[in-house]
Amino acid sequence: MTLQTDADGRLVHLLTLEGLPRPVLLALLDRAQAFADGADARGALAGTAVCTLFFEPSTRTRLSFQRASQRLGADVLGFDAATSSTTKGETATDTLRNIEAMGVRGFVVRHPGDRAVAELAAAAAPGTVLVNAGDGRHAHPTQGLLDMLTLRQAFGGDFGGRSFLIVGDLLHSRVARSDLHALRTLGAGRIRVCGPRQLLPGEDVLAGCEVFHDFDAALEGVDAVMMLRLQRERMEEGLVGSLEDYHRDYGLTAARLRRAARGAVVLHPGPMNRGVEITDEVADGPQSLVLRQVANGVAVRMAVLETLLARR
Ligand code: CP
Repeated sequence: MTLQTDADGRLVHLLTLEGLPRPVLLALLDRAQAFADGADARGALAGTAVCTLFFEPSTRTRLSFQRASQRLGADVLGFDAATSSTTKGETATDTLRNIEAMGVRGFVVRHPGDRAVAELAAAAAPGTVLVNAGDGRHAHPTQGLLDMLTLRQAFGGDFGGRSFLIVGDLLHSRVARSDLHALRTLGAGRIRVCGPRQLLPGEDVLAGCEVFHDFDAALEGVDAVMMLRLQRERMEEGLVGSLEDYHRDYGLTAARLRRAARGAVVLHPGPMNRGVEITDEVADGPQSLVLRQVANGVAVRMAVLETLLARR
């Protein structure tokens, strides 16, 4: 039993992919694939209220959770931190408890603090369900799931015979952490990571990965290239030089992509810095699965919300 599973191993919250049992992960992906194929569950969450409680900006995650909730028949409440009473000093926990008191059972939470969503889950009333929509640099589990669904569609589930490369600022990336947990659980054959030394985390995060600082070498023969957003605020911290230098060393161009395996696929969680970590010709090219990821995000979030909320 953990904070996100009950004594029978069933999910009660989704906080992280770390330690999520393979059968649970596969069941979520299978259900998401059914939704991607058009399965209808319009009444599954009828009468259930879901609040998107975002303390950080978002386009894809917030709207796809709202879309997923609508497709399951839930009532959706949006929360805008900038116009909320958190600006008057109300805590996130008090905010959650007040919205719970309105009869809301499902909370999709994005927060800048590492493990902040787990802390809210620990403070929530019995029966309340929390889904982590990204907390600090810790976890972004539904992004990890939608990335795995996208890769599974591309490779037919054969992760053992494939090589995966994650590129960029892994140090600050919750997406990279969730992808790494999921790739290991799904038995990825080879996992490579690549980035400037100062933007790569330690062995605790990168255990079992092949580490590269030379992007051209890292690309050789890989089946999937998973680009990360350069978080521009890192430039202000002095962790990277100019955008031009970063693009020269770690920008994915069509010429560079030819080093990967024939038919290699390209993923990016968005938002993209076009011309920095990825060029237009790659982002919009035939090997890009970027918009497939976004479409899969709705299906994955439907699967997560149905799994957590429909059976109760
Ligand atoms: N991938 C992702 O989390 O995008 P948003 O920040 O727009 O939700």
